[in-house]
Amino acid sequence: MSISTQSTDGRWSSRWLFVLAAAGSAVGLGNIWKFPYIAGENGGGAFVLIYLVCVACVGAPIMISEVMLGRKGRASPINTMRKLTQAAGASSRWTFLGWMGVLAGILILSYYAVIAGWALNYIWLTASGTFDSASAQVATTTFDQLQQDPLTMMGWHGVFMLITIWIVARGVSRGLETAIKWFMPLLFVLLLVLLAYSMNSGGFAQGWAFMFDFNWSVIGPETWLIAMGQAFFTLSLGMGTMMVYGSYVPEDSHIGSTVLTIVALDTFVAVAAGLAIFPLVFVNGLEVGQGPGLMFVTLPLAFGQLPMGAVFGTVFFVLVSFAAITSAISLTEPAIAYVVEEYNAKRSRVAISLGVFCWILGLGTVFSFNIWADVKPLLGLNFFELVDQLSQNIMLPLGGLLIALFTVWALPQTIVREQLEVGSDRVMLCWRVVGGVIAPLGVAAVFIYTLLPLFTG
Ligand code: TRP
Repeated sequence: MSISTQSTDGRWSSRWLFVLAAAGSAVGLGNIWKFPYIAGENGGGAFVLIYLVCVACVGAPIMISEVMLGRKGRASPINTMRKLTQAAGASSRWTFLGWMGVLAGILILSYYAVIAGWALNYIWLTASGTFDSASAQVATTTFDQLQQDPLTMMGWHGVFMLITIWIVARGVSRGLETAIKWFMPLLFVLLLVLLAYSMNSGGFAQGWAFMFDFNWSVIGPETWLIAMGQAFFTLSLGMGTMMVYGSYVPEDSHIGSTVLTIVALDTFVAVAAGLAIFPLVFVNGLEVGQGPGLMFVTLPLAFGQLPMGAVFGTVFFVLVSFAAITSAISLTEPAIAYVVEEYNAKRSRVAISLGVFCWILGLGTVFSFNIWADVKPLLGLNFFELVDQLSQNIMLPLGGLLIALFTVWALPQTIVREQLEVGSDRVMLCWRVVGGVIAPLGVAAVFIYTLLPLFTG
């Protein structure tokens, strides 16, 4: 079979652009929406510490593997796996990884865009003063009303998808790089502004203590597993995103240190988001363990009680939207890169088709909050819950597990040495133990844990 070696038009213009792009993919709703509410539900400091361990021991090695495979293969994840399995003399079945990644990206984008659409809507709601001195009742009703209104949700979901596809259609240099160059620095500035605001809100000490006071008593095996799943999602691992971004990396960048920078940036944003959000919640005497409503109910309520709350609340939702866009574009890239290189198709056309498809698929998620809330086709889960569980809890861990195993046990180690630029045997041994044993075992644990309850009810 002939395999095209020419990838899409892509090559990042520098190592730093790759760092920003990968950080842009990693930093998203996972950091700003999910991380704080999961930490809030799981006892704060105890969870944060375990999360950091998971990021370091499982997330970082898997990201190194993904970027390495991408840089070596220099193609979309599907063709990268085809090439590398041939080079390694391994079974071509590993290519399944690439296909699963394409599917996972489509599934995740379909609901990611719905939730990001809420954030877009909240820019408007906050700016127009909906939450100024609002009561808890108003904040709750506003969110409920949005969820009960499929047309509004479809509209914002559509706006978010349009922005994403417009950027993706313009290509790696003109689209992705340009968006990333603007959005990422702005995102960091907005985050620091919010952090400063929160530091002056009067609740900072309490917020800090909540995030960093370590308390063993609330930790169970479940904490580990939730933390691991979160580490996976937040670092964009397991579906070829980092592989395809890695395939655009300039030759001269050192993979190890580059990946560590990306992981550090992602972790910084998650922790900073927590430190920006919790003090505001505490100073208003609100509950941190609210679950998914933390960002859409508790936080607007908190902003509404504070001086200049409408301004800073708006800033906050702009920040979330930027973060979500740079993540969403990365969800499409494995699929788009494949179709473009395999069929020599026009990138803009592929992007538009994918966008339309994901938008339609996303309607299932939109309706899961209202007209289809009680339609539970499988395992007692509605459409949104099914897509979410399938992609996040099954496909991503499975993808990550296979990526780590392939890199350490199937790929010739000369390739790994050359890619990682490792001379010493001791460093190689260390890499094999962490990448080939600890990380896969960790992922396998999450995998089994999330699968079991699905089947045992
Ligand atoms: N990491 C992003 C977030 O935290 C989401 C995301 C983008 C993602 N690309 C991904 C998750 C690939 C898993 C796989 O919001």
